[in-house]
Amino acid sequence: MNETLKTIAKRYSCRDFTGTPLSGSDIKAIVEAALASPSGMNRQPWQVIVVTDKTLIDEIDAEGMKILSAADDKSSYERMMSRGGKLFYNAPCLIVVTTSSSAPAAMDCGILSQNIALAAHSLGLGSVICGMAGIPFSGSKGGDFKKRLKFPDGYDFGISVLVGKAKSEKEPHELDMTKVTYIEA
Ligand SMILES: Cc1cc2nc3c(=O)[nH]c(=O)nc-3n(C[C@H](O)[C@H](O)[C@H](O)COP(=O)(O)O)c2cc1C
Repeated sequence: MNETLKTIAKRYSCRDFTGTPLSGSDIKAIVEAALASPSGMNRQPWQVIVVTDKTLIDEIDAEGMKILSAADDKSSYERMMSRGGKLFYNAPCLIVVTTSSSAPAAMDCGILSQNIALAAHSLGLGSVICGMAGIPFSGSKGGDFKKRLKFPDGYDFGISVLVGKAKSEKEPHELDMTKVTYIEA
């Protein structure tokens, strides 16, 4: 297996970070991998926001947990509590991929987030794509968070990726070969 295929095969969602800050060179490599992503007609319909201010990350995390705890359906809150009680698992870096509110490009943002995850894994870092990070941006403090994270006007949360040194590692999920159909001559 070549190095690219090994990175793809070994990546897993990390939900337990040490909190150690990322080096500048790792952030640069991850950002460059993100921006190398393909997008429909090369529109690059995103603004990628790299947050390493841990106090701010913790503030957004706490707001997300507060919203989950107040929801009628407690299943997400209980799942997060069973995973340590933090939406962002103590990650030192939250990468928010924002996309145009009028023409959201979920597919493009998803591909970009996978580039981030694979780049992080190739650098020996853990990562997890985090859709739940959208919760605090849609609550009563959402406008304030968007301002502090410098969301461009007319842009909303698309997806996010948490990156950092893994405190505990995991095996990748098993491949389900029933999810493939081959049509042969
Ligand atoms: C679009 C998307 C959103 C996700 N959101 C979350 C999330 O909010 N929190 C979380 O812990 N994992 C999240 N995940 C990670 C998935 O749960 C994970 O990829 C899946 O369970 C398979 O595990 P693996 O990544 O270790 O192979 C998300 C993944 C994707 C692709």
